[in-house]
Amino acid sequence: MLVEVITLFPEVVRVPLAASMMGRAQEMGALELRVHDLREQGVGKYRQVDDTPYGGGPGMVLKPEPIAAVLEPLKAAGGRVLLMTPQGKRFTQADATRLSREPHLIFLCGHYEGVDQRIVDTLVDEELSIGDYVLTNGAIAAVVFVDAIVRLIPGVLGDENSAPDDSFSSGLLEFPHYTRPVEFRGARVPDVLLSGNHALIAKWRREQALAKTKRVRPDLLEGKG
Ligand SMILES: C[S@@+](CC[C@H](N)C(=O)[O-])C[C@H]1O[C@@H](n2cnc3c(N)ncnc32)[C@H](O)[C@@H]1O
Repeated sequence: MLVEVITLFPEVVRVPLAASMMGRAQEMGALELRVHDLREQGVGKYRQVDDTPYGGGPGMVLKPEPIAAVLEPLKAAGGRVLLMTPQGKRFTQADATRLSREPHLIFLCGHYEGVDQRIVDTLVDEELSIGDYVLTNGAIAAVVFVDAIVRLIPGVLGDENSAPDDSFSSGLLEFPHYTRPVEFRGARVPDVLLSGNHALIAKWRREQALAKTKRVRPDLLEGKG
């Protein structure tokens, strides 16, 4: 998958995505990451990328010309343009799954008060939010979305089976995990996990997942009877 990120803060994107599984995804060719520094298309001698809002009020708005200059050729090459904004649809695991099938994604990251609305109206395919809170810039959200999407590309996760069990994939939060030692500070691993009985283990895990979901995220169970 080709992932392009347009941002004023390239390092905020490059550094976290160079580590761990995303670094591995790039090494194995599952992820090709291109980060575009919006400042390079800034207007005039001072490479201006922002200006005061029409109508007054605090803050600055990202100007349309630098964004259009970077974004238009990428979109023309077939990329799906995702705007990072708290005003967008809240991103879910279902969105991650859907977007993991796209060959080419473009993440447009805002800053200050956000981007000029004419960019949103003419060049953006989808507005996405990381949650109901406000970040200082969209690069942080883009990193999270890229990680959530790219880990679902077949072959990226070492263990092919681990993604379907993850929280949300099955509509439930995941069951609890234990590893060695059997006893830690007086607390033992549940006997069923030591039993070797795979049917019983699967049943226990499903019950645990259901109980945790009921307790912590009952909204996930709504409409499932
Ligand atoms: C300070 S925010 C602007 C918030 C904007 N004035 C508003 O109230 O909708 C600056 C940038 O951070 C990013 N951002 C902030 N919160 C976000 C969220 N919940 N999801 C995705 N991006 C977010 C966006 O790219 C946004 O343009």
